[in-house]
Amino acid sequence: MRIAIASDHAAVALKSKIVAWLQARGHEAVDLGPTSPESVDYPDYAERVTAEITAGRAASGILICGTGIGMSLAANKVPGIRAAVANDPFMARLARAHNDANILCLGARVIGDGLAEAILEAWLGASFEGGRHARRVDKISAIERRWSGPEADA
Ligand code: RB5
Repeated sequence: MRIAIASDHAAVALKSKIVAWLQARGHEAVDLGPTSPESVDYPDYAERVTAEITAGRAASGILICGTGIGMSLAANKVPGIRAAVANDPFMARLARAHNDANILCLGARVIGDGLAEAILEAWLGASFEGGRHARRVDKISAIERRWSGPEADA
């Protein structure tokens, strides 16, 4: 699977470990930066990953900042993006199975490396269950359309 990944300065080290972890499991990890721990603004990197997904160049994405929250807030501004913060494997599995999330957001200051790997295992091993969950995800898309401005319905 082609997975786009980015972080901010708080999570450069965890991002590198996750890229290596994904590659070792046969995934193509597209690292969209940053490459150094110099301070950056997380929305810039969130947008890079959302662009890969909305353009169809990546099947899903991973965004990591201090808490995962800023990345999820920024990514969820993009139509078609469902970014979910997961602090444990249960949340990661259900973000996929129930919410059809296409971006996993992690908090490098919240979780350790071992837990990050367990969360990734759960995320990659799950798939959307559809059914009643599809109806609910469709309603999220409907909200997005209603609040996307007048040109959205044109
Ligand atoms: C950066 O200090 C921090 O605010 C950022 O990594 C993230 O936690 C924001 O949500």
